Amino acid sequence: MAINWFPGHMKKATDQIKQKWPLIDACVEITDARIPEASRNRELGTLLQGKPRIILLNKRDMAEPEETARWVAAHRKEGQIALSIDALHENPARPIKDAAQRLVQEKSDKRAAQSIVNREIRLLIFGIPNVGKSTLINRMIGRRSAAVGDRPGVTKTDQWLRTPEDLLLLDTPGILPTKLEETAALYLAWTGAIRDDILPMQDLGFELIRFLLVKNPEALLGRYHVEAGTKDPLQVMEAIGRYSGALLRGGEVDYTRTAKLILDAFRKLHFGRITLEGVA
Ligand code: G4P
Repeated sequence: MAINWFPGHMKKATDQIKQKWPLIDACVEITDARIPEASRNRELGTLLQGKPRIILLNKRDMAEPEETARWVAAHRKEGQIALSIDALHENPARPIKDAAQRLVQEKSDKRAAQSIVNREIRLLIFGIPNVGKSTLINRMIGRRSAAVGDRPGVTKTDQWLRTPEDLLLLDTPGILPTKLEETAALYLAWTGAIRDDILPMQDLGFELIRFLLVKNPEALLGRYHVEAGTKDPLQVMEAIGRYSGALLRGGEVDYTRTAKLILDAFRKLHFGRITLEGVA
């Protein structure tokens, strides 16, 4: 099963970006460190080629540190500038500025040669919904609250925002690729990048149980007091539903509620920091 989206949003966003294109010094692609590949919009990334790029693997605090280090190394091996960040708890403006300065060096030197005063560095921020664009921008510009939320697509584009380090940031709407393979769609749903109701909730929960039974069975089974060693995902889902009291009127397990419980626990790191995608 592949999922296809209406490509109009992508067109609108790229049209908006193209208007500002000549002013942009570099693009900053934000990804989710738990899913460094599935959280990239390669179609948009390709359209934004031609400018220097910095990849920021955000939500480092939710991913496995060794896996994140591997991903950063893999990006660097491909010649990309990559940093892992935790925009919720730290301001990564300095390392971003250092990276951006290196990237635009050549351009600045040319300008200096023509005795043009160096201006601020202008960065276009892009990424799929929910990777933390608003959180990062707010942290970098020192704003306490804005429209941050788990609503895919809430980020709006229109204006340059200045950081104390004299970086100018341009926000863009979070756009998913127009085509998604099933595994990528699952990962994106589990991490909250696509709305839960796009995919059947019971399937999302069931597949997450299957994944966790391989990745960290002790954490999953232990949390819901399921007998250690239980391997059948449906049996585990039943047991979790019963343990949690997620039952229908007749006493049957309510799979939808059970799935929601598990997803919620996963997103709150109750099964630990988990990187879903390893470096190939
Ligand atoms: P977006 O603009 O790319 O769509 O993402 P946004 O900043 O709205 O962030 C989406 C969710 O991810 C928010 O959680 C935000 O707090 C969280 N987040 C962003 N960066 C990080 C990070 O580095 N680490 C962690 N752990 N979380 C991060 P939320 O639950 O929707 O909102 P809130 O209740 O936290 O405010």
